[in-house]
Amino acid sequence: MEIDMETLFEEARKAADFAYAPYSRFRVGAALLAEDGTVFTGCNVENRSYGLTICAERSALVQGVGRGRRGFIALAIATPDSEDPVGPCGACRQVLSEFMAPEAAVRFGGRGPRRVDTTIGFLYPYDSLHDLAKSLR
Ligand code: THU
Repeated sequence: MEIDMETLFEEARKAADFAYAPYSRFRVGAALLAEDGTVFTGCNVENRSYGLTICAERSALVQGVGRGRRGFIALAIATPDSEDPVGPCGACRQVLSEFMAPEAAVRFGGRGPRRVDTTIGFLYPYDSLHDLAKSLR
């Protein structure tokens, strides 16, 4: 399937408008493309107990899994409050890798023109237990 990463990025950018980020004032939007072509979006949802914050990427992922999807082939992340691209946090890289193949495409960008195009495998290398997760999903 030909993946339109710029359209996916636009979806992520729109999702960032729903961010609940009164503490950091840093909005993040994510858009995940499922194997069947459906797009699931998410935003960061902060909490006054700061550590309970949920990132945009995991928010999008649980939307998809909660609607019966188990495989995702591309991810876009938009951070309109930064000029430059901001990549997913370590926790999200681990959680995304549960449902994404190492070759799955990832694009991230801020409000400026720069985009980073990479893969889950590059962001989360040496994923020794990936096959265990895959065999169970
Ligand atoms: N955040 C995300 O949603 N995704 C990331 O990949 C990086 C960080 C959120 C968490 C917090 O609400 C805000 O951005 C600042 O860290």
